[in-house]
Amino acid sequence: MAGDPILKTENKGFYITTPIYYVNDVPHIGHAYTTVAADVLARFKRLCGEKVLFATGTDEHGKKIQRSAEQQGITPIALADTVVKRFKNAWSLLDISNDDFIRTTEERHAKVVYEIWQRMKQNGDIYEGLYEGWYCVPDESYWTEKELVNGKCPVCGRDVERVQEQGYFFRLSKYQQPLLRHIESNPGFILPVSRRNEILSFVKDGLKDLSITRAGFEWGIKVPDNPKLVIYVWLDALLNYLTVAGFSSDEGKFGDFWPPSIHIVGKDIIKFHAVYWPAFLMSAGIALPEHIFAHGWWTIEDVKMSKSLGNVVSPESLVNDYGADATRYFLMREVPFGLDGNFSGTAMQTRINSDLANDLGNLLSRATGMVVRFAGGVLPVPDVPDQFDTALQQKAAQLYDAYKTSMNNLEFHTALSVLWEFIGEANKYVDRTKPWQDAKSGNAVRLNTRLYHTIEATRIAAVYLLPFMPDTASKILNAIAQDTKGKSLEQLARWGVAVPSVNIAQAQPLFEKKTDPAKAGPGTQGAGIKGQEPPSAPQPKIASGKQAAQSVNPSITPLITLDQFKTVELKVGTILAAQRVEGSNKLIKLDVDIGERRTIVAGIGKSYKPEELLGKRIIIVANLQPAELFGIQSQGMLLAAGDAEHLGLLTLDRDAANGTRIK
Ligand code: MSP
Repeated sequence: MAGDPILKTENKGFYITTPIYYVNDVPHIGHAYTTVAADVLARFKRLCGEKVLFATGTDEHGKKIQRSAEQQGITPIALADTVVKRFKNAWSLLDISNDDFIRTTEERHAKVVYEIWQRMKQNGDIYEGLYEGWYCVPDESYWTEKELVNGKCPVCGRDVERVQEQGYFFRLSKYQQPLLRHIESNPGFILPVSRRNEILSFVKDGLKDLSITRAGFEWGIKVPDNPKLVIYVWLDALLNYLTVAGFSSDEGKFGDFWPPSIHIVGKDIIKFHAVYWPAFLMSAGIALPEHIFAHGWWTIEDVKMSKSLGNVVSPESLVNDYGADATRYFLMREVPFGLDGNFSGTAMQTRINSDLANDLGNLLSRATGMVVRFAGGVLPVPDVPDQFDTALQQKAAQLYDAYKTSMNNLEFHTALSVLWEFIGEANKYVDRTKPWQDAKSGNAVRLNTRLYHTIEATRIAAVYLLPFMPDTASKILNAIAQDTKGKSLEQLARWGVAVPSVNIAQAQPLFEKKTDPAKAGPGTQGAGIKGQEPPSAPQPKIASGKQAAQSVNPSITPLITLDQFKTVELKVGTILAAQRVEGSNKLIKLDVDIGERRTIVAGIGKSYKPEELLGKRIIIVANLQPAELFGIQSQGMLLAAGDAEHLGLLTLDRDAANGTRIK
């Protein structure tokens, strides 16, 4: 993004929030996504030396929770107590560094809700009336007849209930123009731009007054002077952000942190945050948040996540299968923040094997290994740098701006990608400068400088990793006997901060390679050779770069015999027909002639349109066991290479008949 970054360093504390999660459901990857993103930003800001208030919590009132508790034969508070433990446990497993965990059933919160209700009332914004319309309990949202889609909730598609009840309204309509003016004059208020446009057109269409009470059930904060009614759960929930900041209870804290720097929410709840919430605040005479950022949604193996499909992925299982840091890394790296993402076991494995075990693991392993082998385990003092050394120093200097700008623009995937470019550069530096040759020739001056530079580059990489992978970053810093105590990112990012003369031992591998085919989900079959990783192998102690390492140390990719290779039947074929598989944005069903007709379901839909594929000559694995994908039997796998969005099909550069076996 050109111009100023979205988040600026200001003269006040940095206050960041996640939505507070409903307690009718246990935590899943969607909740984890928002929470990890907020945590990464909170850690980044702390690392920059800013004062941070980072809050998450639970939304415990409302009809949905009451109903869920009734179905389970327990009280709503008992349900909330149980689920809160699950959320707290999940966040602890994922290393979430929240400063507060708010529950809307807490006394401190009820006080704030009453206070705001009185303020809105005094401003003439609350009046009595009859609400007649529809209500979606799962989303806790009101809808008019016209807004329904085929009689169902337009957001979640579930059944809605007819509501006719006497209660109170909030004069939302009064805030249409002020809100419009605010959004128009503050381009960074609602992000990303697509969501801003969506909200702008929603507000321009006109705002109707909002029913802010519900009747006929108990589970909520009671309306002052009318205990038969409970306050609408979204009004109750949104005010949590005030409670956390110490509104009307801790003036100092409120002064330090209000207004919120950023609310991170999912795209489904942007209306509540970008329309209702600012209007409530305007009515109560309180400053509006600086930014509201809506992220996208995750599908699982290209399928919408839902309890009925049984494909809900929990943070606990992610941590169990992949570890906290790999999960955090994957969530932040895989998808540009703001866009929808897809979780796939294969994509996760690829990230772990390639980015974490190979690129990062290799750097630490060779950096420490060389100090042990060539310097007796003591980090040498560097000498005058040559052009290789200064080039690496310059890359580190450039990384600072690129990383910081990306982080302040909430472009986490870019921050990680520039960091990985640097890790790649550090590995290349070792490949190019070949310190083992200096060791052999006894050129101690050069050798010492190379060893110091490799460790220094590793340290700098670890510093930038701190917000994303706190445990891994600490392991790296411990392994190279360096610390970050009391220093800000700006100080730590400088070249030459690594303290020499410390003792360094060969580091343990940071990540084990994953090869579990069961974790390679269905949407990934047929994606070509790309997803298939070599079996787990120990990381080389000292190797010269990723490719070089593979030739130096064959244990990275085990060698196979010709006979083993011959067990794979690769054949030439021609694509006769291609069509997208319904319900998947990645899979294409192909009809392929390999001397006989085969149906192949291939995960190439993000790189190719079906019509581009017709007539293409391809190579397929013809003796792969058939697999069923989206109800279609796939009878083989085509070969392709590259990222999911930039796959290239392997093809022939001379003609050969369909069915010709590749030798
Ligand atoms: N309780 C309200 C929020 C009140 S904030 C004042 C709520 N809770 S929720 O538990 O249903 O959802 C919380 C968040 O999880 C939302 O931001 C939502 O977008 C996110 N996600 C739920 N499913 C998701 C995915 N499949 N993918 C990504 N995020 C998703 O709404």
